[in-house]
Amino acid sequence: MKYGHFDDLNKEYVITNYETPLPWINYLGSDDFFTLLSNTAGGYSFYKDARLRRITRYRYNNLPLDQDGFHIYIKDNKTIWNPGWQPTRTKLDKYECHHGLGYTNIIGSKNRIEVKQELYVPKNDNILLDRVTLRNNDKKKRSIDLFSFVEFCLWDAQDDTTNFQRNFSTGEMEVVGSKIYHKTEYRERRNHYAVFFANKKIDSFDTEREKFMGLYGSPAAPQAVLNGKCSNTIAHGWQPVGAHHIHLDLEAGETYDVIFGLAYVEVPERKKFIKPGVINKEPAEKLIGKYDTDKKFDEGLKTLNAFWDKLLSRFEVSTANEKVNRMVNIWNAYQCMVTFNMSRSASYYESGIGRGMGFRDSCQDLLGFVHMIPERARQRILDIAATQKEDGGAYHQYQPLTKKGNSDIGGGFNDDPLWLIACVDAYIKETGDWGILDEKVDFDNKPEVADTLLEHLRRSFNYTLNNLGPHSLPLIGRADWNDCLNLNCFSKHPGESFQISGPSEGPVAESVFIAGMFVKYGKAYANILRHLGKDDEAAAAEKAVAAMEKAVLKDGWDGKWFLRAYDAFGNKVGSSTNDEGQIYIEPQGMCVMAGIGVESGEAQKALDSVKKRLETKYGIVILNPAYTTYRLNLGEISSYPPGYKENAGIFCHNNPWVIFAETIMGHGNRAFALYKKTCPAFLEDISEIHRTEPYVYCQMVAGKDAPTFGEGKNSWLTGTAAWTFTVLTQGILGIQPDYDGLKIDPCIPSNVSEYKVNRRFRGTMYHITVFNPDRKQKGVRKILVDGKEIKLGVIPASTKKEVDVQIVM
Ligand code: GLC
Ligand code: GLC
Repeated sequence: MKYGHFDDLNKEYVITNYETPLPWINYLGSDDFFTLLSNTAGGYSFYKDARLRRITRYRYNNLPLDQDGFHIYIKDNKTIWNPGWQPTRTKLDKYECHHGLGYTNIIGSKNRIEVKQELYVPKNDNILLDRVTLRNNDKKKRSIDLFSFVEFCLWDAQDDTTNFQRNFSTGEMEVVGSKIYHKTEYRERRNHYAVFFANKKIDSFDTEREKFMGLYGSPAAPQAVLNGKCSNTIAHGWQPVGAHHIHLDLEAGETYDVIFGLAYVEVPERKKFIKPGVINKEPAEKLIGKYDTDKKFDEGLKTLNAFWDKLLSRFEVSTANEKVNRMVNIWNAYQCMVTFNMSRSASYYESGIGRGMGFRDSCQDLLGFVHMIPERARQRILDIAATQKEDGGAYHQYQPLTKKGNSDIGGGFNDDPLWLIACVDAYIKETGDWGILDEKVDFDNKPEVADTLLEHLRRSFNYTLNNLGPHSLPLIGRADWNDCLNLNCFSKHPGESFQISGPSEGPVAESVFIAGMFVKYGKAYANILRHLGKDDEAAAAEKAVAAMEKAVLKDGWDGKWFLRAYDAFGNKVGSSTNDEGQIYIEPQGMCVMAGIGVESGEAQKALDSVKKRLETKYGIVILNPAYTTYRLNLGEISSYPPGYKENAGIFCHNNPWVIFAETIMGHGNRAFALYKKTCPAFLEDISEIHRTEPYVYCQMVAGKDAPTFGEGKNSWLTGTAAWTFTVLTQGILGIQPDYDGLKIDPCIPSNVSEYKVNRRFRGTMYHITVFNPDRKQKGVRKILVDGKEIKLGVIPASTKKEVDVQIVM
């Protein structure tokens, strides 16, 4: 069942049934000010940090869900309603929500009154705009009351949801005309406030939640709306809100519009007040003045559209499959940018108060956006690397505001350092910017021990070699990519963190997955050294990689697939000899991607086993059989009920590793069949089962052992975005940035005869056409550049503005 449709021309998803299985959201903002916005106008705003500068309040764990946000209320005689349906849930005659790139339009109509909300956050300004247009489609004059409503958060979202004994006494507001100022804590150490304004004259307002809602009232039927007016309240403590009320008499066919805006403003310390207790509103006035007319509103939107068009034009594909086109050209790329902005902080499943930026997550996210924003990717790499520890290990997370490693969680996740090599390699291949390796970068944020980025890579590589276990395989530490495979934790006490408790990082437990990573990214590291002319060092690295490959085939191979690990007692994990959890996806994908066993046959066997044991109609599960009991020696993985999350869920993030592996084996049909299984655009028709947004990936789909098989969770902020974008564009379409140019090596379904790609690469636009006259799955036999045949291999980077490339398979 569908709840809407794609509008590829306008780059929108249009929701036409407001009762989506879950709130289907969008992200507004791409600089410092962000808003999460659902299809019924739920959501919240924050400035830079979703925990420390939360502007509006959101209650997550609160049924009925999604009633805090940016709602517009209409009172029309006895009927109260919202254009986005929530929170009154009055049935609408017509409803549409258009989620576009950085903006959302919601249109609702009831009894011949149509209301449109157009919301976006302009480029480079800290403001959420919401233009509301009413139209009387009736043949007679109508009398309408219009209300806006937001609820303020007292800035620190964590404190805001816990510390009521203080917070119910701190709230402070000011109102001047149509401008409602939220200034809690401004009197003391804050030099920022929020302002919620209307560009038209208002008839009344409220800033006390209780007065607006009514005593024991609810967002579904606020007393003020029922009364047809607000009470002009100024909140002192309790819950400060902002509500505007405008009374309208609309002639038949008449239209009225008003622009509401929610802005965040900082004021220099010595200019905070204009007189005792009265805040300096000048910076707010200035910002509001930039968006207080329709013309300015429209111009801001135009600039925003141009920004997205330019970013997305860096990779445009045209194939016979419209779903592939819309994922690559619009939604998958868009999601990659959202992961760049948000990391894992704020979604409808991440509260914005928990995690900082993950070391491994951020490195992997980069694979998906480096071609769109190479300059910002460069800075991101330097920020991440500066948190690396001196021994080459990594803090598992860092805080975006301070950019410092987070010592509460610490390090010891032994895959982390190798992801740094992965993202630096991708960055150099994209940009050719070898200079980044000479940048001096702190270790542990200490300038006194700074060294070159190349030295950081060296320590990443050596970190694995310095931490080998009894089978010469890498020690797993607290966990590897799979945060929940905690082989050194042994947690018996509820509430303990599986990631940070436990006796030690362990001298025995080993990871075959990290071994695969070491081979894959160790080869990349060696290539980088060769390019720099460091041949001896490169040869030594290659030797270490070859030894690891041998160790994997000797002690990391289970007969039909790659083993997952050895536990703290040296027992096998992910082996046919185990009672449950006999086979895991991660080492199959990673080891084959690394090229292990490709020549000698193990790779093919491993992929056959994946197909037989792990593949389902909704994707590949992490492991099989699911653990049915809690295992002290395995940790959090066995804490989840069978079929969910890391315990045999379909983790969308590592499905593309197997897809990549299939492309390495030349199996284009198989790669694409797998691609479709988790790709949201292909799941649109089963939205009642999949439940999350059909335009973005979710982290996890319930596996075959789960009662809710096929149900997605945790949409938006997942490494899946970057990996699926990479596997489709590089593995399947075969457009692979390389150190000295573009390599084009497609691995496609045999029924594809031709496709085109426009790819901006190092300042040149490549217009690429791939012809497949013999309906092959892989193998290029001819390359023409600007009409001239060149030898097979990498197409050297060009200095021209545009280049025409023809590939014949
Ligand atoms: C989550 C984490 C990621 C981890 C994965 C598997 O998505 O963000 O770092 O690799 O789970 O446990
Ligand atoms: C939990 C989640 C896992 C995630 C981890 C991050 O363990 O289940 O997916 O990676 O938290 O800390």
